[in-house]
Amino acid sequence: MAVTVIENSSDMQRYALNARHEGRTVALVPTMGYLHAGHASLMAEGRRRSELLVASIFVNPAQFGVGEDFEKYPRDMEGDIRIAAAAGVDVIFAPAAAAMYPAGYQTYVDVERLTLPLCGASRPGHFRGVTTVVCKLFGIVQPHLALFGRKDYQQLAVIRQMTADLNMPVEIIGMPIVREADGLAMSSRNAYLSAAERQSALCLCRGLAAARALFARGEHAVTELVHAISSVIAAEEAAVVDYIELRDQLTLEPVSQADGSTLAAVAVRIGKTRLIDNCLLGEE
Ligand code: PAJ
Repeated sequence: MAVTVIENSSDMQRYALNARHEGRTVALVPTMGYLHAGHASLMAEGRRRSELLVASIFVNPAQFGVGEDFEKYPRDMEGDIRIAAAAGVDVIFAPAAAAMYPAGYQTYVDVERLTLPLCGASRPGHFRGVTTVVCKLFGIVQPHLALFGRKDYQQLAVIRQMTADLNMPVEIIGMPIVREADGLAMSSRNAYLSAAERQSALCLCRGLAAARALFARGEHAVTELVHAISSVIAAEEAAVVDYIELRDQLTLEPVSQADGSTLAAVAVRIGKTRLIDNCLLGEE
């Protein structure tokens, strides 16, 4: 089946409301495009759970800070259509920025505490842009369920919080991180990496693996576990740490002692590219 591409928000909303009136379950996979197997895994699960599967492709200017990579964020609509079609997507919703944020636009959604640490600390305003666009996408696509990756762990937590706080009738489904064969978490931003940087980027997942191994040997002290990660990353000349943190997996508050459910999260710059990765310490 060919994918239908819809650019107009009212057309998209009408299409989705019609499906709902026919009793069909609507699933949404929000993306910024330049799709890869991580996105496709969300789509495959959405396909399994719904009768109308919508994927949005929208590079959301509201979630990029000044000096960030909005202008050069990779885009490839033709490739995206192919990947989405293969993953079983029915409709791609691809609005223009001027249609999502027309002149006079003035409404934003702000989740408070959960957006303060980690990526929120180094990217002020980022999550406000994410929650605002996801809220708008929920209004336009009217999904029963929406799928997000644990690759962006804090984003998933923030969206769960928004959905609960604002009584949105959308089930939020979190999906595992899809990795390359050597462990690098898939990301559209990996396209920025040179061959040498691509190799250096392995320090994120290898640092996390070192922490999991140390935890499995009985180490529960936060400083030791963080040190295990930072020594792997420090060995990589091209890597500059943004943060290395252990946090409660639900509240994202700091923990005094690690346990198997503790979140280990890292953000590291490799050259000009900022990459993130995470795991729970008790994970295999
Ligand atoms: P984007 O980075 O395109 O990611 C879209 C979705 O794919 C997110 O839920 C993200 O967590 C998931 N994803 C990305 N890489 C993944 C991987 N390796 N394994 C599993 N899932 C992965 O996240 C965004 O876009 C935007 O912030 C968005 C939510 C669309 C709002 O603009």
